[in-house]
Amino acid sequence: MRFDGIYEKTIVIVKPDGVQRGLVGEVTKRLEMKGLKLVGLKMSYLREDKLREHYAHHVEKPFYPGLEAFMKSSPVVILCLEGKEAVGAVRLIAGVTYAGKADGGTIRGDLAMGMCNVVHCSDSPESAVDEVKRFFNEDEIFDYNKTEYLHVYMEDERA
Ligand code: PPS
Repeated sequence: MRFDGIYEKTIVIVKPDGVQRGLVGEVTKRLEMKGLKLVGLKMSYLREDKLREHYAHHVEKPFYPGLEAFMKSSPVVILCLEGKEAVGAVRLIAGVTYAGKADGGTIRGDLAMGMCNVVHCSDSPESAVDEVKRFFNEDEIFDYNKTEYLHVYMEDERA
């Protein structure tokens, strides 16, 4: 069956718990092994203004002050990944938000226990577009041929 998924870019943030626990390599490895193409990578502190924009839907929620303090507590590592239907693929690999209920085999299911859930990932193609712009300048996103694509997608999927 032909797969018609479109190429998308998506954002993964290795959160302070992931950085502090030395899980940057493990997270990146899992995403690369899936066949996703790494097109952007940076380490950064997330400041209050950026976090309030990023979590705009949550700033009024009771958990927001704790979430903001947590996200500012350490540098984070931000990845931009590309692939066919990459947003959904990354969400499957990440597992559900509460790590204690995440399936085995997922990043959260294998590597975390609670709301210190290792990664943020874009939740829809629309928010992924916003997040790429939020976290990367245009010249920080790399457009290159990944030879591995010959062995990730069949010829009729590569258009
Ligand atoms: S909601 O209310 O259901 O829409 O929120 P949810 O999608 O589950 O979570 C949104 C982000 O907030 C984080 N979160 C928390 N952080 C710390 N403490 C508590 N109690 C908490 N509840 C939710 C959650 O990990 C999501 O962060 P991201 O970075 O998007 O994964």
